[in-house]
Amino acid sequence: MSPLSKIPPNAFERTCQRLLPRLEARFELYASLHPQEWQDFRSRLDEHFPRLFSLLIHLYGDQFDFFYYIETLLTSLAQSWIDRPAELKELDHTRQQNPDWYQSNQMVGGVCYVDLFAKNIKGLRRRIPYFKELGLSYLHLMPLFDCPRGENDGGYAISSYRKLNPDLGTLAELTEFASELRHNGISLVLDFVFNHTSNEHEWAKKAYAGQLEFLEYYYMFPDRRMPDEYEKSLREIFPGEHPGAFTWFPEISRWVWTTFHSYQWDLNYNNPDVFIAMVQEMLALANMGVEVLRLDAVAFIWKQMGTNCENLPEAHMLIQAFNSAARIAAPALLFKSEAIVHPDEVARYINPDECQISYNPLLMALLWETLATREVQLLKSSLSSRFPIAPGCAWVNYVRVHDDIGWTFSDEDAARLGINGYNHRQFLNSFYTGRFAGSFGRGLPFQENPKTGDCRISGTCASLAGLEKALREETEHEVQLAIGRILLMHGIIMTIGGIPLIYLGDETGMLNDYSYRNDPSKEHDSRWVHRLQTDWEKNKLRKDPATIEGRVYQGLQSLIKLRKSEPVFSGHATEIIDCNNPHVFGFLRTHLGERVLVLANFSETMQKIPANLPRMYDLGYKFVDQMSGQETGIQDLELQPFQLICLKAA
Ligand code: GLC
Ligand code: GLC
Repeated sequence: MSPLSKIPPNAFERTCQRLLPRLEARFELYASLHPQEWQDFRSRLDEHFPRLFSLLIHLYGDQFDFFYYIETLLTSLAQSWIDRPAELKELDHTRQQNPDWYQSNQMVGGVCYVDLFAKNIKGLRRRIPYFKELGLSYLHLMPLFDCPRGENDGGYAISSYRKLNPDLGTLAELTEFASELRHNGISLVLDFVFNHTSNEHEWAKKAYAGQLEFLEYYYMFPDRRMPDEYEKSLREIFPGEHPGAFTWFPEISRWVWTTFHSYQWDLNYNNPDVFIAMVQEMLALANMGVEVLRLDAVAFIWKQMGTNCENLPEAHMLIQAFNSAARIAAPALLFKSEAIVHPDEVARYINPDECQISYNPLLMALLWETLATREVQLLKSSLSSRFPIAPGCAWVNYVRVHDDIGWTFSDEDAARLGINGYNHRQFLNSFYTGRFAGSFGRGLPFQENPKTGDCRISGTCASLAGLEKALREETEHEVQLAIGRILLMHGIIMTIGGIPLIYLGDETGMLNDYSYRNDPSKEHDSRWVHRLQTDWEKNKLRKDPATIEGRVYQGLQSLIKLRKSEPVFSGHATEIIDCNNPHVFGFLRTHLGERVLVLANFSETMQKIPANLPRMYDLGYKFVDQMSGQETGIQDLELQPFQLICLKAA
């Protein structure tokens, strides 16, 4: 909480003079046996250590033992590199030769829970053909490490990174699975839950036992004085579970900082031991074969009295420090940021030196917003300025994930269009909980906060898009519209710049499952309504175009095929355009001289677009829709309800 304000002159040079020879001496034997690999390590150290050092001296330079910490860290980076399996060192090389690999149109992501999807890692291995059939090149497995029995926030309360949840398998199975995926062209993505551990983690247990060293791994307070002071400016994240951000633990007579649930203890990054320990956990994950780490809850990792303790400059420094440690010891590793906050703040995490890829919560929220209002104005105007990100980075575009939908658009963007942000969120919540008259959405409120009026939404893509209601009312017309909405949103994420991410289950249009209400460990967390067990018998219907599953699945397959067959969907360049129609969202994709114009109708009625629109974007006088194969020329374009077209010059 007190980063160093003044850095002594020549600190870096003096540190190198003292530490590097000792590092060389310590690893002399390895270096003599593997000169090339040691050389590789040394040159990456030369490249990235200056940055790492300057971040750490800023964060920890006032610590009495600062140089000792630096030496410990360098030693563990070297050791972790030495331990890195040969196959992964090869991957490091491949990635260095093709650093833009994740910008490719061949990238398609999927995410699932191991147990709900396939029972365990063994079962998941048998599903590799399914992942390939779907076209995935990136697979995010929800948390699978050891965690408390009963409530564990869907595994986000991690008790150990060195042991899998025994119901799911073993570390050896995971490592093998990672490599099998890689041989099938799929990168494994796992969470790095680095803001907190569970209260059953070894560190927490030692803290419970009163060991001073480990009490300092967390934020602990003997009375309400400091917690009260902090809470004056904190946001409540899970107000349903506990008010404020702290929980009282009588065993240790302390208030513990628990941003999320009381069993998730926030790590104290003021303590450099915590940083070093977590770097080791991170590199262990990388050496298991994880290629992308999803940095969980990035916004919360640094606290500062008098602020809301979200998105602080030191949070960015910490992530950059993790990033440079990874560049040195596991260079293939990528970071994905999970910042579900104001779009200005989301963007600040996206940077080659911080997180190379990031969830795009704004696009996600505004796709749902646009479906509800049938008007593209907020989507269009927000994305025009906010879609571009730093070169070399990529959005991860999604429709649904395991979490709730939070309406994280910017109030300033909304106000410019005469929309009141607060009221609009109230409308969206009422719409997607089905309370708003005429709504097609069948979702549930999540973490409704009576004090602030805040609320978020749970529900599967299909239920929110109207399929649940349509099936109940048995109208084919409504079913068709609902499927149209599902495919429209997926069509956007497949074609707009970035990596599309499918929440598995959505590919067959699975509906809400309300049975979580009978499980005492889940009943008060409505997000379980959309965390579904895959029914593999039902899933087989995906092959039958006469079924709902088949219609959704095959529609999605065409979109994936379209993405993968058009190199123009590589890279990031996306220009949001004005289609001069309140219901049609459009953008131009360009890549290596190719261009495609994507137009999407967000309404239940046919929309006309004048033929000179594609001409204005240099598509000439004749164009072909890459979705339907239809050719058009001088006549106006007609977009059917929820139709998405991709125009290319004929
Ligand atoms: C992230 C996860 C969410 C979890 C929280 C605490 O936001 O996506 O599911 O509850 O972090 O770990
Ligand atoms: C909050 C956090 C976000 C997390 C979510 C879980 O919105 O900002 O990180 O995903 O809670 O519901």
